Amino acid sequence: MLFVFILMAMRVHLLRAGVISFALAWSTASITGAEKQPIYLDASQPIETRVNDLLSRLTLEEKISLIHADSKFTTAAIPRLGLPRRWLDDGPHGVREDIGPDTWASAGRTDDFATAMPVGICLAATWDPELGYREGEAIGQEARARHKDIMLGPGVNILRTPLCGRNFEYLGEDPFLSGVMCSGYIRGEQSQDISSCVKHFALNNEEHDRMNINVEADERALREIFLPAFKAAVKQGGVWCVMGAYNQFRGQHCCENDYLLNQILKDECGFNGLVMSDWAGAHDTRECALNGLDLEMGTETNYNDFYFAQPYLELLKKGELPMAGLDDKVRRNLRVMFATHVVDAGRKTGSLNTAAHQAVSRQVAEKGMVLLKNEGNLLPLDAAKFKTIAVIGENATRLNTHGGDSSGIKAFYEINPLNGILNRVGKNVNVIYSEGYRKDGSADLAERAVAAAKSADVVIYVGGLNHDKGFDCEGADRKDMKLPYGQDELIQKIVVANPKTIVVLEGTMVEMDAWLDQVPALLQAWYPGMEGGNALARVLFGDVNPSGKLPATFPKKLSDTPAATFGASAYPGTKGTVTYAEGLLVGYRWYDTKNIEPQFPFGFGLSYTTFKYSNLKLIPAEGTNEIVTAQFEIENTGQRAGAEVAELYVHENHPQLMRPEKELRGFKKVILQPGEKQTVSIPLKRSAFAYYNPAQKSWVAQPDVFEILVGSSSRDIRLHDDFNLARK
Ligand code: BGC
Repeated sequence: MLFVFILMAMRVHLLRAGVISFALAWSTASITGAEKQPIYLDASQPIETRVNDLLSRLTLEEKISLIHADSKFTTAAIPRLGLPRRWLDDGPHGVREDIGPDTWASAGRTDDFATAMPVGICLAATWDPELGYREGEAIGQEARARHKDIMLGPGVNILRTPLCGRNFEYLGEDPFLSGVMCSGYIRGEQSQDISSCVKHFALNNEEHDRMNINVEADERALREIFLPAFKAAVKQGGVWCVMGAYNQFRGQHCCENDYLLNQILKDECGFNGLVMSDWAGAHDTRECALNGLDLEMGTETNYNDFYFAQPYLELLKKGELPMAGLDDKVRRNLRVMFATHVVDAGRKTGSLNTAAHQAVSRQVAEKGMVLLKNEGNLLPLDAAKFKTIAVIGENATRLNTHGGDSSGIKAFYEINPLNGILNRVGKNVNVIYSEGYRKDGSADLAERAVAAAKSADVVIYVGGLNHDKGFDCEGADRKDMKLPYGQDELIQKIVVANPKTIVVLEGTMVEMDAWLDQVPALLQAWYPGMEGGNALARVLFGDVNPSGKLPATFPKKLSDTPAATFGASAYPGTKGTVTYAEGLLVGYRWYDTKNIEPQFPFGFGLSYTTFKYSNLKLIPAEGTNEIVTAQFEIENTGQRAGAEVAELYVHENHPQLMRPEKELRGFKKVILQPGEKQTVSIPLKRSAFAYYNPAQKSWVAQPDVFEILVGSSSRDIRLHDDFNLARK
């Protein structure tokens, strides 16, 4: 008897300490002759078997408790069955500090630091899905070390207008690139017994009136532009959770949108994980219950009044909503729990702030920075040649990783650009710093910066946007595409004072016509994470050869952008509705089809070396999946090792329905030593030639002549050939 008591006491103690799983504790208990281990605790059983077994043991109230929040970022435990509380956390760039439990304020902990990765658009600019995998894996490991179960990212909403406040979190303007990049990230993260949660499904392309705005988009735009990244997350990434968006689509909120959730996501794409609401994105019990929501998260604190709590329970009891609907939701929640091994022995325990995580953060920054201009090869800089370097600009010292709202990170540390440059150049160079501008700056900041520029051999200007509300931040859009705080004038003055001025911009795209012609070098650094300063210095001083390419077009001016062309009804919307009047023509699809010259095109980025493309062959593919392989050679014709992203676009010669001038359908990043030549192969499936035909309600690749375009950007096509697509 005493033995049994000691065993049971040990079990409870070890479970609380998280040292053993419920399953293991159960088998300890079963030595005592208690009930045989239930099927749902047996990790060797298929997930579906475990789900069904557990479902059959749950009371109605327990089922309800699994489909709504019980604090800001948790759902309730069911101790009697050994189901722990589930912990959710933002987000895409690392594990956010703990919030709440019942307010949006910080929980005030001291053990919730994390590695801050560069922002999503920087990851996309690497065009390196393997690196995406490693970033996801690192975040997954940190999430486990912080005892999380579901991570609220990646964000894959398409950049439709440069003004959207959350563009920095997302993966750019192209559905194919976003899909490939998010899939790598998700696979990496989910390899760590963590579920990713791809967001925000769907058409959440502006922050203006985000909780309510109704989006009207035609079927082709929906299918060809706004859904593919989510579909890739499900099909290629195998994502287990999807977050519904705040906005409405065709008059129905996205978290209770039958067409998006039931018909497209669950029926067509075969998604069998769970759909959760964005926080307070649910609006009606019946609609949510019937239209595909599986978990309600929120911002109110009366958790029992959540649509999926007491109100749902009452409707079920009255027989006004079907039990089968509830069971499906519970199944989906349990599936994710079993997939992430929440009750299994040996669940991964993760790690925090390791050298490997720091390295991934730095590499994403190094590979995602985009060199946009480099006249006279001013870059890379040779530290030995300079006595004085002037670093100018508020972003050189500002810490950015904590900003942006839900995607901000409480970083273990953050190397700002000034510190990165100081670390790199050592003691023989005199580095001076001048702030240059400030939100509420005094008048002589600019004068002092100009004086500093005059006194230096070279100027590194670090400016751009920041995460203040109204710039790159959740909850509001930008008003325009201008550089704030008088930076246009400041840069002009600085470059007159010292023509050797390198402009480094953080943030998303801005208008540059005021100074671009006069500035010899320009580097786009996004928000490069906690190793950003080191990464920047390594790029500027040539330890790293830049290889990032723009995942979104930089237009010359806001009025050139598709959403701005069709008036207020197309952006930001009128009377609560925004109509995507440009249809399919988002990003380069617009600029290329309409012959509008951008400042810097989609897919553009320079290197410190040069690459030559040659010898394109279209080889009929032998496998069953692919139909043709584009094969070509790339040679590094310069003096430095470097990486090149080869981009493959498809153009249809005689489309039956309008098609954009070109569409990205493949890419490959290759690393080449000076003089090295490599053969690159990009296989294409039949789907690479397809468009969505709304009348047929399906994707169609019709027999036609297609041009296969291979190049270094969407506007720098180096090779092309015709491909005759035969009837199937
Ligand atoms: C954001 C989500 C985020 C959630 C939880 C919402 O306001 O839209 O992206 O995951 O809050 O912080």
